[in-house]
Amino acid sequence: MSFARQAYAQVQRRAFTASARQSSKVTVLGAAGGIGQPLSLLMKLNPRVSQLALYDIRLGPGVAADISHINTKSTVKGYDPTPSGLKEALSGAEIVLIPAGVPRKPGMTRDDLFNTNASIVRDLAKAVADAAPNANVLVISNPVNSTVPIVREIFKSKGVYNPKRLFGVTTLDVVRASRFVSEIKGTDPADENITVVGGHSGVTIVPLISQSGHTDIAGEKLDALVNRIQFGGDEVVKAKDGAGSATLSMAMAGARFAESLLKASQGEKGVIEPTFVESPLYKDQGVDFFASKVELGPEGVEKIHDLGKLTTHEEKLVEAALADLKKNIQKGVDFVKANP
Ligand code: NAD
Ligand code: LMR
Repeated sequence: MSFARQAYAQVQRRAFTASARQSSKVTVLGAAGGIGQPLSLLMKLNPRVSQLALYDIRLGPGVAADISHINTKSTVKGYDPTPSGLKEALSGAEIVLIPAGVPRKPGMTRDDLFNTNASIVRDLAKAVADAAPNANVLVISNPVNSTVPIVREIFKSKGVYNPKRLFGVTTLDVVRASRFVSEIKGTDPADENITVVGGHSGVTIVPLISQSGHTDIAGEKLDALVNRIQFGGDEVVKAKDGAGSATLSMAMAGARFAESLLKASQGEKGVIEPTFVESPLYKDQGVDFFASKVELGPEGVEKIHDLGKLTTHEEKLVEAALADLKKNIQKGVDFVKANP
């Protein structure tokens, strides 16, 4: 290639990157909810976002009007719950965050939400597949272990499934793990980077404490820590006493994951987050989705890391997680088969 053509190609690439930087549309489905509102607020504060589209079955335009007064550059628009409103909200989105659905009350498991949330997620997935088939889809609605497979099945049925673009958001488990470890150790949680693998409910949540360097957390102390991370969601459900589950910490976690994807899509290297994705790690055991450290890139999933060295205790935790995960994933797949 001549020097002039090389220089031209470089200018084109720069222009493309710059325009990609200027045009990151983020859509939130369920934007008026307990998670949706603070999550939308945090996305409005993110300078990497240029357009924010807020959709809900109620109050989308109201929340959008409120957030739109914040003096950051991005534009904000709310959409009415009509097929055309949903389509317009999704059109051109780079990231679609889905916190739509009902939260738990005390005494419920996340799986108890399945009957209500499965059809909400299925119908929203259909709209995303039609209007934004290339978007990164970030599923927050519970039970994540089943709702993510539901999205896959819908995308597959519409011939637009790309495993690199579908994520179950498990960041809250990572956030909690680093916070809880820091409480024990008296460290700054920002310096704690605890890998959490598996899925997002009860025993499917597996923190790999041995990889954090805190070898002194052992025995009963370790059991209590692992239990707190696995059932951290219950602490909030109990404290909110019937008024829902984690919303503010979840909004922070969702915003962190979206920010990581935006960084990666805008060219930053080495962006790694644990997330629940279609994964080769345990496919031979019939477990198609598994959360582990995932390197993110402009195409979504760049590299799925394996779990690294585990203790015997952690191997047992993973084994227990796999048994539940297999059932949870199958439940999502079966739901779409029976209720396409
Ligand atoms: P919420 O009830 O406060 O808000 C849910 C919102 O979804 C409401 O505004 C509702 O109008 C909206 N909605 C319902 N059906 C919709 C549809 N078809 N289209 C668009 N919007 C719709 O609940 P929340 O506390 O925000 O929790 C939302 C979900 O997130 C729950 O399923 C909860 O279990 C889950 N959650 C997941 C995590 C995680 O770590 N992945 C953490 C916390 C909560
Ligand atoms: C959480 O982990 O806080 C969420 O999954 C909400 C819940 O039901 O616990």
